[in-house]
Parts: sequence; C-alpha cells; structure tokens
Amino acid sequence: MTLEALDLATLSRRDGEKWASAPDGVLPAWVADMDFPISPVIRRALVNRIDTDLGYPAWYDESDGGPLGEAFAERMLGRFGFAADPTHVRLFTDINQAMQVALHFGTSPGDPVALHAPVCPPFTEMLLKLGRPPRAVPIRWHDERWQLDLDRLADEVRGRDGVPCRALFLVNPHNPTGRVFLRDELEELARLAVEHDLLVISDEVHAELTYDGYRHIPFAAISEAAAARTVTITSGSKAFNLAGVRCAVAHIGVKEVRDAVDAHRGILFGQVNALGVDALRAAWTGGDTWLDTVKTLLARNRLRVAERLPEGIGYRLPEATYLAWLDCRALGLGEDPSAFFLDRAKVMLFRGSEFGPEGRGFARLNFATSPAVLDELLDRIRAAVPG
Ligand SMILES: Cc1ncc(COP(=O)(O)O)c(C=O)c1O
Repeated sequence: MTLEALDLATLSRRDGEKWASAPDGVLPAWVADMDFPISPVIRRALVNRIDTDLGYPAWYDESDGGPLGEAFAERMLGRFGFAADPTHVRLFTDINQAMQVALHFGTSPGDPVALHAPVCPPFTEMLLKLGRPPRAVPIRWHDERWQLDLDRLADEVRGRDGVPCRALFLVNPHNPTGRVFLRDELEELARLAVEHDLLVISDEVHAELTYDGYRHIPFAAISEAAAARTVTITSGSKAFNLAGVRCAVAHIGVKEVRDAVDAHRGILFGQVNALGVDALRAAWTGGDTWLDTVKTLLARNRLRVAERLPEGIGYRLPEATYLAWLDCRALGLGEDPSAFFLDRAKVMLFRGSEFGPEGRGFARLNFATSPAVLDELLDRIRAAVPG
C-alpha cells in the first residue's frame, strides 16, 4: 500500500487543532496528530455506520466487556502476547477520561501518585485538580539513553514526607522521551507496585508505534500479580490518528475499580459514540496494512530528523512514537526554545517546559508528516540556528 502524502495546501485547510492553530506561513509540528489520510478500512467502517444506523447502540451494558472486549483481547494477544480478559474491558471517550475514572475509584483525595518526568502536559494538572499530589521522578540521560531512576522512584513511593504513594502512573512507550521500557525495568516496577500495594495506571497508547528492534510489553503481562492491580489504557488516537473520534478502552484488572465503574455507568460519566467504536474495531481488525505503511514512513522520518537537525540540538532516535524530544540547551536559547523557532523558523514545536521542569530548554517535534513537509521544517530550523 502507498500512503498518499498530503501536500501543504491540503494540510493548511485542515481545521483540527494542529493546523488551525498555526498562524499563516507557520508549519505546525506540535500536538500529536499525524498528517496522513485515514486508513481506507476505517473510512469504510465509518461510512457504513452512517449508512446503516445512527440510533442508540445496543451495547450500553458493558459488564461483559462491551463491543470492543474481544477485539482488544485479540489485538493484545496477537501483537504483544498479552492474554487480556475481554470481560475486563470498558469503554471511555479518551485516555485522559479513563485515567481520571481509574484514579477516582482506585485512590482517595490526598493520595500521592508517582509518575515519570518529563510528564505529558495534561497529567500533572489533572492529578492536581483531582487532589492527588503528583510525585514526579525524572527519567535521566545516562549512558547515551533515557533511563528510569528506580531507586529514586522507590523513595518517592515510600514517601519522603511519610505519606506513601497509592498509585503509579506509567506511560509506556514514554512520551516525550520515546523510551520503550524493558522487561527487567517493568519487572522492577511490578515488584515495587506489589510491595507497596500500588494501583498501576498504564497508558500504552503509543505501543503500536514501536520501531523494529524494540518490543512493547504491556505492564499487565509481566505477572498475574501485576495484572490484578493494573488498569491498561489504549486507543486508536495515536497509531491510527483517531483522536477526534473520542473512543478509548481500559482493561481494568482491579475488580473493585471495575465494579465501581459498572455501578456508575450512566451516572458519573458519559458514553462513547458508535462511530468511535466502529473506527477502533476497524483499525484493530483490518488496519494493519495501513499501519505498516505509516510505520515504514515514520521509521524513515525519524532518521531524517537525525540527519538534518543542526549541530547543537541533542536527539536520540525514539524507540517508539513519532515525537522527537529535542535537547536545545547547548544552543543557549533559554527555557523555551520553541518560542525562538516559532519566531525565527516559523515552525511550531511543543514547548518543553510544559512537560515540567525537566523539559526546560527542550522542545518536542512531531515528525508524522510527509517527507517534503518534514524537510521544509527541518531546513527552516537549521537556517534559524545561529552559526
Ligand atoms: C501518552 C499519551 N497519553 C494520552 C494522550 C491523550 O490521549 P487522548 O486524547 O485519547 O486522551 C496523549 C496524546 O498525545 C499521549 O501522548
């Protein structure tokens, strides 16, 4: 299958957040949406839904796993060797909602939550709004790669101030560093989670975009003990570019959380829509040819970024995802290099400091676009950098 690259004129007419927020003449490479046409299989499923029945769906009772339980379980087994239980799957509008619900039912106000920094922007704010103090542990640059600091994490989980963490929030593959955590790292996290009785909320939305040479291991696949305390969350919003259809799934291994979710269906949070469910099912059951084509292009683009970035910007090839975490500190552009690149290069990057203090001096570049657009924006970055 070939992926028809969208040209600039077509892209700039897009009305989603990524392109609509870019001023005239500016190339957006910030929010995590891809600039590719949708998979034809998903398109057909959506048209079919519109042409058949847009009335109330017949799957409002999800206590048996709902309309995506089987598709999720087959996908997890086929792709990642994870024997998920289809009856543990519940639907949510998006990753963030699933996380919020899991925190709401699985922890209490005041319970600290451990997570790794740099932190994907909405998460810290979300935890603060829910009254769960975030305990961020930096992922360190060590031996030429981003590494978890497991000792520091253990200290934070125990609670330096005497208040232990109640939950661990894991993003694997990690946004923005692009790390795909190794089995021994996950085993160590699982050991910590069991020892300290943590609820683990594992956001694995980037898993399907893992590059050759790396292997995504779902956290819940590490052991039965891990699975029983883990809520695994994913959707098609990254790998299949479906953020606008608002449909995510959570595999809720924790019985108390699952029962609480079922007891509150239709009371506390809404329902996903039929289009989102059909799109995600089509992606998982028929979208692989499209996904393989996209991954081939992304794999080339991630090398292109390395070849064309100017000296002075640090970049390690991400192990997954189309997000390049650019270390601009050596350029002396201050805390927010994205402001410099917007002004001088007319390229819109994601501001690193939005990922917390660890992101100061960094910017995140989204390379999920056509090679022509990527070349143009890398040329602009190169031309803007002094020297
Ligand atoms: C790791 C991670 N989790 C969650 C989200 C947000 O997903 P959603 O819009 O489905 O809530 C993103 C978006 O880029 C992400 O990178």
